[in-house]
Amino acid sequence: MKAAVYLPADDKTQWWVEMLQSLLPGWEVTSMDHPGDPATVDFAVVWRPRTGDIARFENLKAIVSIGAGIDHVLADMELPAGVPIIRTVGSDLTQRMREYVALHVLRHHRDMPRQLRAQAEADWHAIVVPVAPNRTVGVMGLGNLGAASAQTLAGLGFATRGWSKSPKTLHGVTCFAGIDCLDQFLDGCEILVNLLPLTDETRGILSADLFARLPREACVINCARGPHLVDEDLLAALNDGQLKQATLDVFHQEPLPADHPFWNHPDITVTPHVASQIDAGTGGRIIAANLLEYARTGTCSDVADAARGY
Ligand code: NAP
Ligand code: GLV
Repeated sequence: MKAAVYLPADDKTQWWVEMLQSLLPGWEVTSMDHPGDPATVDFAVVWRPRTGDIARFENLKAIVSIGAGIDHVLADMELPAGVPIIRTVGSDLTQRMREYVALHVLRHHRDMPRQLRAQAEADWHAIVVPVAPNRTVGVMGLGNLGAASAQTLAGLGFATRGWSKSPKTLHGVTCFAGIDCLDQFLDGCEILVNLLPLTDETRGILSADLFARLPREACVINCARGPHLVDEDLLAALNDGQLKQATLDVFHQEPLPADHPFWNHPDITVTPHVASQIDAGTGGRIIAANLLEYARTGTCSDVADAARGY
């Protein structure tokens, strides 16, 4: 079997090639830029592939997304139809996201940005906030990452809500489903976490219209995809006080350009797409296991529903 790997940074591609080669004895793992005869490649293992890259491999059995989201693969306008896409998921990915969500929800809950501003002015300013059960937090998307994050927040004592496409039952979480219940989900939600996949239905969902349905001075955490957010609407909502703070891990353009207003905004925390970044050690083992299973059985449990977009 032969797998060809591509990530946007060349050095990272080589790192992944070597990791996967060590985990797949008997396989040939190459970079996508030097695949030998393209017709012999069985699997493309990619993060943000360039348009047309995957179409070169006419006998592909499956495409592996080096990540949970598949939007970056579906964005390839020349993507061959009908080739299954395998997501990379697993307990490390979920654990990292739970940590990130807990950290940033608690930070907003305890008003740490204001506390740190007071410290910078040597101001002994005691900020007393409600206890977690009196704080309503909401998680958009109740898949692998959203459900685990919502249950983590519920475990910390927050009044936790979740929103998904189809109805869910999650211990400790009040669940809402479908667009008809979005208003009900948002009403009173003081800290909102986005963990939706990027699809035609969810692109631009974090907009002025949505922010207006949150209580005044709500906080927003976007750790899903940059294009979920309408950047100008966020800036306007922060500047007029409808939103108090935002934490952003993902952006329309990554790396976030140095002159982007988010970098220096006093009410925005920027992290560089690290909420739950996959590493070659853990990710490599998950991908190798999926490739072996797929090669053996012709499928695996992490195949995404490409028609649905996630
Ligand atoms: P997932 O398992 O595919 O779950 C997606 C959830 O979103 C499901 O609960 C789904 O509802 C819900 N959903 C989809 N479309 C919806 C809609 N139109 N309205 C309401 N709910 C909708 O995804 P995941 O593995 O949890 O990952 C979520 C996203 O996180 C990924 O797609 C990726 O973009 C992002 N991510 C970011 C990082 C990072 O480091 N920042 C790391 C990993 C992933 P149903 O359950 O009803 O289908
Ligand atoms: C990261 O963003 C992922 O989709 O896993």
